[in-house]
Amino acid sequence: MDPQPALFPERLQAPGTAAAPFEAVLDLELLPPGTLHRVTRGDRDILLAHTPAGIVATDDRCPHMSAPLSLGELDGCVVACPLHEGRFDLCTGDPVQMPTTGGLDPDGVYHPTWTPGGREMKADVPGRKAEARRLTRVRRLRYYPVRIVAGRIEVALGPG
Ligand code: FES
Repeated sequence: MDPQPALFPERLQAPGTAAAPFEAVLDLELLPPGTLHRVTRGDRDILLAHTPAGIVATDDRCPHMSAPLSLGELDGCVVACPLHEGRFDLCTGDPVQMPTTGGLDPDGVYHPTWTPGGREMKADVPGRKAEARRLTRVRRLRYYPVRIVAGRIEVALGPG
């Protein structure tokens, strides 16, 4: 039986996609369970992820600084960004680990610079760069509706 698209919070649906037509983007067999895949349409890069909850489609841009999440690692529903160790739950749209740079979470709560275990703590020298890090906000992911038709993954991309 084909996997189902994962459910995601309605408020996180990409604008303009509610009535958008679906478009075939990938053969289902090219996205086995536990894998990530990037598809590009025009100037838009879409992340497809086959999670235990089903298949999701989001922008292939980390909610922190836009790195391609498709180059990260998927562990259950959680994708790890390849750049600053941010981790995001694709089944809820929420960050589960703030990036090493710190900053504001989606609700505007500040998280200090974080150092991975085993590494020396990096001092945050006061100044404009530190202020920029402090005010950099991690956003929530945006989702595109997905359906599976005749062995193909289809996504409603909307106006872009
Ligand atoms: S760009 Fe992904 S954690 Fe920074």
